[in-house]
Amino acid sequence: MNQFDLLIRNGDAVLPHGVERADIGVRDGKIVALGVGLVDSAESTLDAGGRLVLPGLIDPHTHMGIPIKDTHSADDFRSGSIAAACGGTTTILDFTVQAPGQTLRAALDDRLALADGRSHIDYGIHVNITDRPDDHLDAIPRLIADGFNSFKVFSTYREAGMMITWPQFRRVLGRIHAHGGLLMLHAEDNDQIEANTTRHVMGGQFAAIYHPRSRTADAEAAAVAAAAAVADDLGARLYIVHLSSRAGLEAGLRARARGVDIVLETCPQYLVLTEEAYLGLNGHHFITTPPLRRRSDVDALWEAVADGAIDTIGTDHCPFTVAQKDAHGGLFHLTPNGMPGVENRLPVLYTAGVATGRIDMLRLVDLLASNAARIFGIDRRKGSLAVGQDADLVIWKPDGESVVSAESLHGNADWSPYAGMTQIGRLTHTFLRGQCLVADGQFVGHAVRGVCVRADTASD
Ligand code: URP
Ligand code: ZN
Ligand code: ZN
Repeated sequence: MNQFDLLIRNGDAVLPHGVERADIGVRDGKIVALGVGLVDSAESTLDAGGRLVLPGLIDPHTHMGIPIKDTHSADDFRSGSIAAACGGTTTILDFTVQAPGQTLRAALDDRLALADGRSHIDYGIHVNITDRPDDHLDAIPRLIADGFNSFKVFSTYREAGMMITWPQFRRVLGRIHAHGGLLMLHAEDNDQIEANTTRHVMGGQFAAIYHPRSRTADAEAAAVAAAAAVADDLGARLYIVHLSSRAGLEAGLRARARGVDIVLETCPQYLVLTEEAYLGLNGHHFITTPPLRRRSDVDALWEAVADGAIDTIGTDHCPFTVAQKDAHGGLFHLTPNGMPGVENRLPVLYTAGVATGRIDMLRLVDLLASNAARIFGIDRRKGSLAVGQDADLVIWKPDGESVVSAESLHGNADWSPYAGMTQIGRLTHTFLRGQCLVADGQFVGHAVRGVCVRADTASD
């Protein structure tokens, strides 16, 4: 009998303490051996010479098939997971959609049913609380005990019936904190946004550039500061999703400096795109919330990515097709907000981060995998290359250039915000628990099924 199901030889493995030439032996979906010169027999062997081997990446922020405005985001768990796998992501953390009157548990069951049998990669689910938060406080402890330990609320989107008020936020955060869970916040001050949006719409200013002029960096900073004050009061941990601006970042860092336990996430789009995109012919395609910002915001976020102040990079993958984006004549307040990106995270961060010398491979893996695994309590199985971990593996060829095109991507969006950009390096292989999803850059994992990953708070 073969010692290993899979042996990956000669790769430069990105281990928790450094990049080292190593062989990786896989059996029954787990990494069972890691070292130099593993010679035992294997069912299949792959020579990764000249390439980097990374742990399967974790995207902590995706939205597969969610309702936004009058439509739904264009990827379901099947198409979205194929795109994710082709970008080196082997676990996504998606969000429930709570319908009015629906319990948190029913919303979770609905989302799990959508992923089950469709996702080709593993998935966890954050519980979104958007309807009558106080009615659902008592459901929180059981969800955490079942391993669904992360929740999300919005301080905006009042028009969509999804906003939480600050008193509600305090009660939700208090309950989640008391039971060892984590609350994530989409932080934007709704009053400022509503006032700005109304002013622009009433003034006949509908072009895409009025999206960032309505949803300002100040609105982000105000909400981060308000939420951090509550977290400070309660001694609770708080996770800010998709930070987009220098002002928002500085509000988070000020809170951290006074001892608030605040986790900060940003996204690739805020690191390589600016609000100039809104001035182009298809500027409305780039409408995402929060909006793209100025060069100085991009620079500030990069500094925080490099110096460790930013903890995670999620994609906020929420794609719409050109037809969906165009359906309202480009009017900024009616265009569905969100962009594709789940396949681009590794190439974008490798190209703009590692290849430029801003960050090294260890930091890249922390930002794209290890930190999220730890923060969301799945690090006993995922997020690093170590014996005992799931054999979620990515092989990356660090040289060569190509130009990103929408046609080469695998999601259902027929455009890409990254189209036309030069990318350095390319992904050759992705494995999920030892099963091949991508080989020589081609998706081959049609028969592979992902499973739900619960946090270690699960009491069973
Ligand atoms: O515009 C975006 N990002 N849509 C997805 C929902 C959200 O706010 O993250
Ligand atoms: Zn959001
Ligand atoms: Zn989002």
